[in-house]
Amino acid sequence: MSAQRKDDHVRLAIEQQDTRSGINQFDEVSFVHHALAGIDRPQVSLDTTFAGISWQVPLYINAMTGGTARTGAINRGLAIAARETGVPIASGSVHAYLKDPTCADTFRVLRQENPHGFVMANVNATATVDDTRRALDLLEADALQIHVNTAQETAMPEGDRSFGSWVPQIEKIAAAVDVPVVVKEVGNGLSRETVLLLRRLGVRAADVGGRGGTDFARIENGRRPLGDYAFLHDWGQSTAACLLDAQSAGLPVLASGGVRHPLDVARALALGASGVGASGVFLRTLLDGGPEALIEQLTNWLDQLAALQTMLGARTPADLASNDLIIHGTLRSFCADRGIDTGRLARRSRSADTLHNATGKAQ
Ligand code: FNR
Repeated sequence: MSAQRKDDHVRLAIEQQDTRSGINQFDEVSFVHHALAGIDRPQVSLDTTFAGISWQVPLYINAMTGGTARTGAINRGLAIAARETGVPIASGSVHAYLKDPTCADTFRVLRQENPHGFVMANVNATATVDDTRRALDLLEADALQIHVNTAQETAMPEGDRSFGSWVPQIEKIAAAVDVPVVVKEVGNGLSRETVLLLRRLGVRAADVGGRGGTDFARIENGRRPLGDYAFLHDWGQSTAACLLDAQSAGLPVLASGGVRHPLDVARALALGASGVGASGVFLRTLLDGGPEALIEQLTNWLDQLAALQTMLGARTPADLASNDLIIHGTLRSFCADRGIDTGRLARRSRSADTLHNATGKAQ
């Protein structure tokens, strides 16, 4: 059942890539254009540092798959593209291996093809400390992702119905393992309250994993004979909303969910993310054109992100968080109700300027 589910997820995620339409709240975030803000391309770096982790690029291939012959082949392609571009990568949930070690190679290929890359192992919030160590060992992983997915489990025919142990379990794992722990949603978003709780639990970073891209409630509902959980489609907060909500919550945040192109990456970085992940878009590229096509796409995204930083005057991805942003439409209503000051975001480069002039750095 578990193995069949992995193949179903790939099929249904790709179907969504082809059919999904509707609002993506990244479109409600725009940069104020300052015509003389540009800098020289050689001044731009894509380096990012958070939670004691240093990446040469602020982009990663987020958790997807493993556990079957088909998904092992997908992992090989993803790993080759990660290796050739230096983009960090996360495995799909390693529970298939924890239940049936004979499928180890379908995950291990992520490390074998990418021996020097940054690899994250992915488990769910019911994993024991021992499970987690086995997952990390399998991939010789540099970090751990724990996914939280109550909406997915609720719509999943064979899903979990008990979530009460997740908080103490996350705390236990965070205290026990030696690598940084990132808690991620799978597309329904993390609220500010959740991010604050994760900080208290000892987690090192939160991947807000918001609504707007691959929708797992929709995928699981597609696996139900009656499709009777359609009311959970589009559940939760968008990635842009989560990033706004998590501002100054005191925990590094990563962004994923509905990231479509380099401008969305720049928007997410400007909203405070230290790194930006995508899954569905990269999966489709890999299945359509193989690792070469994905290498080309990742290379183009990084090149275009550097071009955007050059135009926007951001020497580093973190500098984008001083750029002025206008928040529009439904996202603006969300901010009003959650007490988020959109006026401050629209004028924040002025205070950065004052600071620059005061220290003489802008001469
Ligand atoms: C996923 N995702 C996922 N997440 C996770 O934490 N563990 C997992 O095993 C999986 N499995 C998985 C399979 C497939 C086929 C896809 C496309 C995605 C969720 C993924 O990491 C991400 O959070 C969502 O897909 C939202 O990002 P995109 O697809 O909108 O970029």
